[in-house]
Amino acid sequence: MIAIGSDHAGYGLKCEIIKHLEEKGVEFVDCGCNGESVDYPDIAEKTCEKVTSGEAEKAILICGTGVGISISANKIKGIRAALCGDWYSAKYTRLHNDANVLCMGGRVIGAGLAAEITDIFLETEFEGGRHARRVEKIMKLEEK
Ligand code: RB5
Repeated sequence: MIAIGSDHAGYGLKCEIIKHLEEKGVEFVDCGCNGESVDYPDIAEKTCEKVTSGEAEKAILICGTGVGISISANKIKGIRAALCGDWYSAKYTRLHNDANVLCMGGRVIGAGLAAEITDIFLETEFEGGRHARRVEKIMKLEEK
């Protein structure tokens, strides 16, 4: 199960990604918005809650740039959100950072690239090993 959310600026791309997830048969829960003007921290909170509660395995968040919503998501305990605008970053943030939230900019990338980024993010497993130690250190920073 994947949680997905966007603000108004990311809504168009979110609709495209939802279409893509449906075509691929990926189960998802849509945490808003529905096109109306909203504040991206509220959407980040609502969507990431699905991950921290265990209801969703990962989440996808979209705002205009992807920046505001990723900053917001990374304030939430247990969330490792990665803003990706390319395939390589999406792959390696799963392999090396065990990112559990993918953020994208609806005003930055097109639907085709966003769908490819989504696929690689959802399909790539964390590599573990020396990267597990580093991810543990990231999570310890939450205590600062
Ligand atoms: C909304 O206008 C815009 O500020 C937001 O979507 C995002 O780009 C913020 O980082």
